[in-house]
Amino acid sequence: MNATKIEIEQLTKQYENAATPVIENLNMTIQEGEFIVIVGPSGCGKSTTMRMIAGIETITSGFLKIDGHIVNHLPAKDRDIAMVFQSYALYPHMTVFDNMAFGLKIRKHKKEVIQNKVHEAAELLGLMPYLKRKPKDLSGGQRQRVALGRAIVRNSPIFLMDEPLSNLDAKLRNQMRVELLNLHRSLKTTTIYVTHDQTEAMTMADRIIVLKDGQVQQIGTPEEIYRQPANLFVGTFLGSPQMNTMPITLKKRTVYLNEIAIAQLANDINSGRYQIGVRPEDWLIVETGIPLTITHTELLGADLHIHGNFEHHTIILRCDGKSTYTIGGVIHIMPKHLQLFNEQEQNIYVKLLGE
Ligand SMILES: Nc1ncnc2c1ncn2[C@@H]1O[C@H](COP(=O)(O)OP(=O)(O)OP(=O)(O)O)[C@@H](O)[C@H]1O
Ligand SMILES: [Mg+2]
Repeated sequence: MNATKIEIEQLTKQYENAATPVIENLNMTIQEGEFIVIVGPSGCGKSTTMRMIAGIETITSGFLKIDGHIVNHLPAKDRDIAMVFQSYALYPHMTVFDNMAFGLKIRKHKKEVIQNKVHEAAELLGLMPYLKRKPKDLSGGQRQRVALGRAIVRNSPIFLMDEPLSNLDAKLRNQMRVELLNLHRSLKTTTIYVTHDQTEAMTMADRIIVLKDGQVQQIGTPEEIYRQPANLFVGTFLGSPQMNTMPITLKKRTVYLNEIAIAQLANDINSGRYQIGVRPEDWLIVETGIPLTITHTELLGADLHIHGNFEHHTIILRCDGKSTYTIGGVIHIMPKHLQLFNEQEQNIYVKLLGE
């Protein structure tokens, strides 16, 4: 498989009659064989970006390059890109087999080759029993798998997947996530994958791209995005339960939440008002610290989430599922790690003393 590099330079999309662009001056380089996951709130332009790469949406300005060649005006059919759409448009009059075989048939592959490839994909996707059915006689999840199958059999050097697992139940979703990763390990197809699912983003991506309002907020490995979010938006967008945020005062390297000293910074930062972000797993339960009144707890098996209040702040922390806490009781907590965000909500990467 000859994997392919994708370069996006100053890419802009403005729909007709729209006052502002949906995507504005987007820049990103996707390396050969990379698995890129795009995340962002609904309406931020993920599908639009995918459609421009696939060639089914025009580019208003900027460049799209595939292996160094500008392809802005290359018709979709000549781009050799396999795409799974968010709304998996299957051909209603064709059987599952024919839906999956279609891309190969129009490319005039031999009948045995088509048969083998479709069967191979159908095995992988658990679709063997349905090959003769029409899409209307399938469940949503089965249809989504047919759409995936149709893309897999193409053996294209670029794979675009727009929420391909969104209609599957949890078990099948986990199974397919692993299958897709295995597939990527063996084929090394350059892949762009859109998802709303945190687990998919964190576990599948070589790098994650976080979009907001058509603009890149951060590009990085899942670990970088999670541990070193570029700004408050990225910090709160990824992670579940969400990162706790609250306004603090910094005086000579000491972080005060209301009047309580909760952390000492290792680096010198101007005193003033900031926001901190603390992940639910980054709280320590201590003897003296922030007194948190427990409002409710959620047991998720291995983990226990404790929700509590300190004055007007609501805080969530994650601890071991075997621990028990009484609602209405008070525990004391301190952050063992935190993010510090300035007035522009940018992260000023700090370390705590002793961290
Ligand atoms: N054909 C169109 N004409 C005008 N506006 C459009 C068109 N298609 C999409 N939009 C608008 O462009 C914006 C981005 O849409 P897009 O489908 O790319 O979002 P998305 O990030 O994929 O969202 P979701 O997560 O809900 O799928 C939205 O505000 C949408 O309403
Ligand atoms: Mg979309």
